[in-house]
Formats: sequence, C-alpha cells, structure tokens
Amino acid sequence: MTRSAVSLGAAVRPSSAAAPGALPRLLPLCPPRPPRPASLDSHLSRYGPPPCSAPGQRDMRTLIAEVGRAGLTGRGGARFPTADKLAAVAAGRAPAVIGNGTEGEPASAKDKVLMARSPHLVLDGAVLAAQMVGASQAVIVAHRDALDILGQAAAERRRARLDQVRVTVRAAADRFVAGQASAVVRWIEHGVPAPTAMPPRLSDRGLGGRPTLVQNVETLAHLALIARYGARWFRSVGTPAEPGSMLVTVAGAVREPCVLEIAIGTPVGQVLDLAGGPAAPLHALLLGGYCGAWVDAAQAVGRPFSAAGLAGLGAEPGAGLIVALPAGACGLAETARVVRYLADESAGQCGPCRFGLPAVASELERVAGGRPADLGLLRKWLGQVDGRGGCAHPSGAVRLVRSALRTFGTELTQHAAGSCGGTAQVLPVPSPGPR
Ligand SMILES: Cc1cc2nc3c(=O)[nH]c(=O)nc-3n(C[C@H](O)[C@H](O)[C@H](O)COP(=O)(O)O)c2cc1C
Ligand code: SF4
Repeated sequence: MTRSAVSLGAAVRPSSAAAPGALPRLLPLCPPRPPRPASLDSHLSRYGPPPCSAPGQRDMRTLIAEVGRAGLTGRGGARFPTADKLAAVAAGRAPAVIGNGTEGEPASAKDKVLMARSPHLVLDGAVLAAQMVGASQAVIVAHRDALDILGQAAAERRRARLDQVRVTVRAAADRFVAGQASAVVRWIEHGVPAPTAMPPRLSDRGLGGRPTLVQNVETLAHLALIARYGARWFRSVGTPAEPGSMLVTVAGAVREPCVLEIAIGTPVGQVLDLAGGPAAPLHALLLGGYCGAWVDAAQAVGRPFSAAGLAGLGAEPGAGLIVALPAGACGLAETARVVRYLADESAGQCGPCRFGLPAVASELERVAGGRPADLGLLRKWLGQVDGRGGCAHPSGAVRLVRSALRTFGTELTQHAAGSCGGTAQVLPVPSPGPR
C-alpha cells in the first residue's frame, strides 16, 4: 500500500472497544508495527460475531430504530441521519447497497486508514446494511490504497462462509468528485466518475434503477458496532446532539500528521495535541476538507470539533479534516492552488463548474500573485456560483473562498501592496498530484 498524504499510523489509546466511553472503537487498540490489517480471527475476538450472522435473527425495523436512537449521522461529509436513509431504501423494492470508500479528498486519509486497519468492521457494516434494507448483495468502492486489503478480507470471509450477503470490492475512480454519491453509482454502472446532474434521489432510483443506499465506509463501521452494543453505548461518547466518535485526519504543520479517532466535540486544540501538537506557531486551520472553511487558529483551538462547536466560525467537521497552516505561509496562495484544483477536478457538466469555478480560480490567482484583481467581481462570481449546479461541488468551493477572504484579511492587504513573503513557503496543504 502506498502512503497517503499523511501517515497511515493511527494514534490510539489502548482500551476495550465494548466499554462505554472507551476509544478507539474503530481503529486497532494497539496498532501493530509495522501496521497491518486486523485478521478475521483478531476481528472476531475483539468484537464477537457479525451482528446478523443468521437470516431472520433480528428484526430489521427494530435495528433501524436503534440506529435512529443512536443518532448516527453519515461520516462522508454531509452528516445526514443514517436511520432515515436506511428506512427510505428499505421501503423500496430490490434495493442496492454501496459502501463509499472513494475518499477523493486529497488531504484526507481516514477512510483509507480505516479500510486498511479494520477491513472486517467495514465489511460487517456493508453486510449489515444490506440485511437491514433487504438487499441481496453490497458493493464497496475503495480507494486504490486500501483495495487489496479489503478485497483479501472479503475473500477470507467467503472462505469462512461468514456472511449471508455477498460483498464485492471495486476500485474507486481517482478524482475529487468521484466520491459524490451519484458519481459512485455512475462509476460502477458506466465507468464515468462524474455526478449525475439533478438525479432522482438515489433512495428512489440508483444502481440499475433500484433504490440505492450509499454510505461512507466509516458510517458502515459505526453501524456494525451499534448493532452489537446498542444506542446507549454509542452515545456514551460525543455530545447529546452529535453523539459518537469520528475519524479525523490531521495534516499540515503538526508534528505527527495522522488519523485519529476522537469523541465528537473534542476541543480542536486537543485534537492538534494528539497529533503531536503544532510544528510551528499556527496562523489558520482548514476544517472539513477542500470544500470546508479556513478559520483563525487562535479562535478555533478552544472550540469543540462538532457542527455546533464550529458553527460560529462558519465551519463544519465535514469529512473530518484539519490542516494546520503555519504563521508565515500564505493562506491566499494555498487557497488559490486548492481552488484551481477544484475547478480542474469538476465534472465540467454544469455552468458553475465549466465557467464559474475557473473564473474564480483565475481571479484568486491574480490576488495571490499580487497582480491587479477585482475583489468585487470575485465576490459577484461567488454569488453566481453558490447553490448552483447538479451537486454540492461548486458551493463547496465558494465556501472555501469566502472563508479565505474572511480569514486572510492581512494577506489581502499585503498582496495589494506587493509585500507578502508567504508565497515562497513550502506549501503545507497536501498537494494533489498532477493528472
Ligand atoms: C464533490 C463531492 C465529493 C464527495 N466525495 C465523497 C467521498 O470521497 N467519500 C464519501 O464517503 N462521500 C463523499 N461525498 C458525499 C457523498 O455524496 C454522500 O453524501 C456520502 O457518501 C453518503 O454517505 P454517508 O451518509 O455515510 O456520509 C462527496 C460529496 C461531494 C459533493
Ligand atoms: S456541479 Fe460540477 S461537479 Fe457537480 S454535477 Fe455539475 S459539473 Fe459535475
């Protein structure tokens, strides 16, 4: 397996997965060195048998209600209640289930780490999700870094005749928008890694025209544990409004870039400390992902890493990404680079992506390059792109740029005066490779 943008070593505290409040739940208790995936034997001895090893063993409606009581929300970024998705798809005929392990976000590694370290937990969740909605099989679309491990784990389970449902593992497309739910369906069916503009809801019509459940692989892993230990156990960490734990990728200017499992609501500064602490005085943090938001580091460190905790800063946990920008690096130059990437990575199907994002990227490059730029025009374009298009990609890019204009006011002045030295710094935001 190649290394991701951050170390695939997970910082974890030893404890029992079944004990309330104990973390990690999803990642290994004592990560082996060198890191390797949990075998089926070690998985079963840690967690016990898969939650529904025999057909008809449990009433699926009761189980969906338990997931609702747990308050599990999707860990792919949008945080939609998982029980509502399960119930909607279960109501349809001959449904399909997809585990989304695409992780198209270049700076994020949490899904790769999860699939590579705890493949059987993800597979438990995929099998269970299929059983909960009444599907006869499930597909997991996995990033290439975790593909072989997940495929081998699925084969190990087939040999052991462990599951009632067949799970197949497929390679994900290596593209930012390829992880959007309708793009995953289109990739499986037609080999095209692009969202379906203005689709019917996937819960009505997805893979092969069937009602389709698409869940992030981390969501599936939580699902497998809720079915084993219950809603009360799940809620024993996190906040009452946002219960449970979540995986977080911490990258940029920290001493030990890594993937962590935290209780939702852990203060941002504490999360940075778990990653070895800042490697330099920090200027800003990118929270949520490339379509997330920049926030002032000093304002963010005391805030809980949760939707409620970050709302006042105009940020969200999103896909669980924190990138630390050191003082002296240029936030505008970083943003211009990321927005150009987002513009290049769009599916180019809708107006905001074909014309809007490239124009926004060019204007931002002018700002970052100290060339004459029109901020009024930039803001006007952001208003025209926001909320448009067939998926949330353009709005995500707008959110990032607006947050940069809020957070990097000093740089804006310095660039206008031609006096910003930060653009010469080594770029701390992991650089997406050239296509
Ligand atoms: C541009 C874009 C890219 C996305 N990439 C991913 C991804 O790589 N992995 C993922 O799980 N969800 C991704 N999503 C979110 C999915 O559309 C979808 O909401 C998610 O897979 C649903 O699973 P969840 O409810 O378990 O979070 C992306 C969304 C957008 C708009
Ligand atoms: S908004 Fe952009 S990324 Fe989304 S479907 Fe349209 S062209 Fe594709």
